[in-house]
Amino acid sequence: MNVWVTGGAGFIGSNFLLRFVPERPNWYFVNIDKLGYAANPLSLEPIANAPNYRLAHIDICDFEALERLAVECPPDIIVHFAAESHVDRSILGPRAFVQTNVEGTFNLLEIARRHWMRGRSVVDGRVFHHVSTDEVFGSLGPTGRFSEESRYDPSSPYAATKAASDHLVRAYGKTYGLPFRITNSSNNYGPRQFPEKLIPLMILNLLERKPLPIYGRGLNVRDWLYVEDHVDAIGVVIEKGRNGESYNIGAHCERRNIDVVDALCQIVAKHTGASVEELLALKTFVEDRPGHDLRYAIDASKIQRELGWRPKESFESGLEKTVRWYIENRRWVDAVRSGAYLEWIEANYGRRKRLS
Ligand code: NAD
Ligand code: DAU
Repeated sequence: MNVWVTGGAGFIGSNFLLRFVPERPNWYFVNIDKLGYAANPLSLEPIANAPNYRLAHIDICDFEALERLAVECPPDIIVHFAAESHVDRSILGPRAFVQTNVEGTFNLLEIARRHWMRGRSVVDGRVFHHVSTDEVFGSLGPTGRFSEESRYDPSSPYAATKAASDHLVRAYGKTYGLPFRITNSSNNYGPRQFPEKLIPLMILNLLERKPLPIYGRGLNVRDWLYVEDHVDAIGVVIEKGRNGESYNIGAHCERRNIDVVDALCQIVAKHTGASVEELLALKTFVEDRPGHDLRYAIDASKIQRELGWRPKESFESGLEKTVRWYIENRRWVDAVRSGAYLEWIEANYGRRKRLS
């Protein structure tokens, strides 16, 4: 069984491969990754020489390269993680998001259609697993949760391209009978996340006593999911999910951003001996993200009821593990914080006004 995993050098994809390459010795995993800014080959060191794993350094926008790979190593399952994934980058430069998230997904669907379909029938066991986000549903008010039936209403260019890719996947199911599954998950955190996202950015800034840039008043709410729980859920959907279905994944863990930052100050103080007051004083309220979604919350009852998946990590223990991981993995951190990273920090935060 050949399993194509796109974006396997990024945050969630690498955690997926680290879990399943050793666990599934009879599956042959091909990690298709262009090794962009968010990829870190150090994440994959433990499996780099595994007999059932290889890296294919390919951009999913390059259809010819994907076609050559499909001839050499035809996929049975495609688990599609590769994406431009950061909302703030999509606001400053949306083009790359349309290219990778829409055109790249389209290319992979075309590979699946060409190689799997004979008319409307498909060889048994083939699955296109599309990894998506709750951001396709837009913003919630103070109450309610997103279910699989929630209306698509994306706010950012990132969310709009993920919504477009979900629609393309469903269209291939309806039109060509392509066997697909979609998972829409809430905000992930944990080891190996590129330090542009809230939690790793705040951890590294705390460790270096830099300001903690909180958008607006920090009252936006995100529903946090530990990455290993997400990876576990994707494994369950691949194994037991139904074709043509989507599954929401979340851990019922809503927190205001300000409370997440406060919790990180406490944990970093405990691990470094810094005073909590000194760390809390680094909090800096800055100009808000345009179109900032107020609140996300996932109703994960379908995957729980139908497939028996449950999250295992509590937010407190997950945050603790995450802080420890960044403290203990400075080599990994140094490898991703290149000149391009510093340019991004300047582009996103340099001109943001401080709020009084
Ligand atoms: P990431 O940015 O950490 O990693 C993305 C990976 O994709 C990188 O390794 C990058 O090199 C690769 N990539 C990007 N463009 C590519 C291209 N054109 N060709 C080949 N490879 C390319 O992202 P992540 O946080 O691991 O997210 C993975 C997936 O999960 C994405 O589809 C994202 O939309 C989705 N998702 C993420 C979260 C989250 O909280 N991080 C939540 C829900 C869904
Ligand atoms: O909900 C799932 C989505 O979660 C994924 O689809 C995206 O790929 C992932 O990036 C994430 O999107 P968010 O925009 O919610 O994540 P981010 O970590 O960028 O921001 C989390 C919250 O923290 C959000 O309300 C904005 C705020 N924030 C973020 C940064 C980077 C700050 O206040 N300051 C910051 O510097």
